[in-house]
Amino acid sequence: MKKECLEYLQMHLSQDGYFFALNPEYPSISRLVEIGLGRSDPPDVYFKKKRRRIVMRYNDVVVKRFEFNTVADVLHSYRYAPREVQYYYDFVKAFGSLEGFRLPKLLAYFEKKCWWKFHYVNGIIMEYVSGAREINSSEIMLTVPLFVHLYRKCIYHSDLHFGNILFCPENKMLYPIDYNKCFFFKKPNWKALLISVAHFLDMGQIPDDMGKNFLVTILQALPELHLDQQEAWKYVSHLLSIWSKGN
Ligand SMILES: Nc1ncnc2c1ncn2[C@@H]1O[C@H](COP(=O)(O)OP(=O)(O)O)[C@@H](O)[C@H]1O
Ligand SMILES: [Mg+2]
Repeated sequence: MKKECLEYLQMHLSQDGYFFALNPEYPSISRLVEIGLGRSDPPDVYFKKKRRRIVMRYNDVVVKRFEFNTVADVLHSYRYAPREVQYYYDFVKAFGSLEGFRLPKLLAYFEKKCWWKFHYVNGIIMEYVSGAREINSSEIMLTVPLFVHLYRKCIYHSDLHFGNILFCPENKMLYPIDYNKCFFFKKPNWKALLISVAHFLDMGQIPDDMGKNFLVTILQALPELHLDQQEAWKYVSHLLSIWSKGN
């Protein structure tokens, strides 16, 4: 991981074989360490519990913990939390700000080293977006400014779906999350835009008429793109038909 990626995590410490990089803004560093070590009480919620990956909430924080129990897993371990921290850093820098949208704060990175860049465990701790829930299909138009903004900022978030865009009813803000699969271009890339729209529509099982309306609204907000609406929809629906055959 590049050193500058730890810009938000400037407090470093080692404990019980773990390395921690922590955000000094969080009021209780020792609590983050306990959670990273897996020593706190059971979580309030498990968002995901799969082989290698657990995403869980402890009161005001969300922990994404990866455990590598086979040689093959250990050899791939550097791709998980370290990559997420790096892409979080790049994403935050490139994203800047957008009215109605926020990015959750990164609070900690931790790893239990095996050797060199390979780990037995690694993970991140993020701010829990209080009261947040995944968006639903009646809310897709709220995400139009996000697609427009990502295009203009040359960011390709390759996994935009309902579970990766959270909505907080309290403050009416949307929070894109899960930066593990982001790419950054030197200039805006219309193919990346159309692919991410197609992926979003595909994952949300959005009917064609709604999907087309969604795409047209994005294109209308991007006059500099000069993309023919019919041609763009043809491209998106072609992708949707290829992917539906693959399922
Ligand atoms: N900061 C957060 N605040 C609230 N909920 C979150 C947060 N981060 C993750 N979640 C919940 O956990 C789920 C999985 O998190 P995510 O980062 O998308 O992991 P994965 O890479 O496994 O998809 C999300 O879909 C969301 O429901
Ligand atoms: Mg996700």
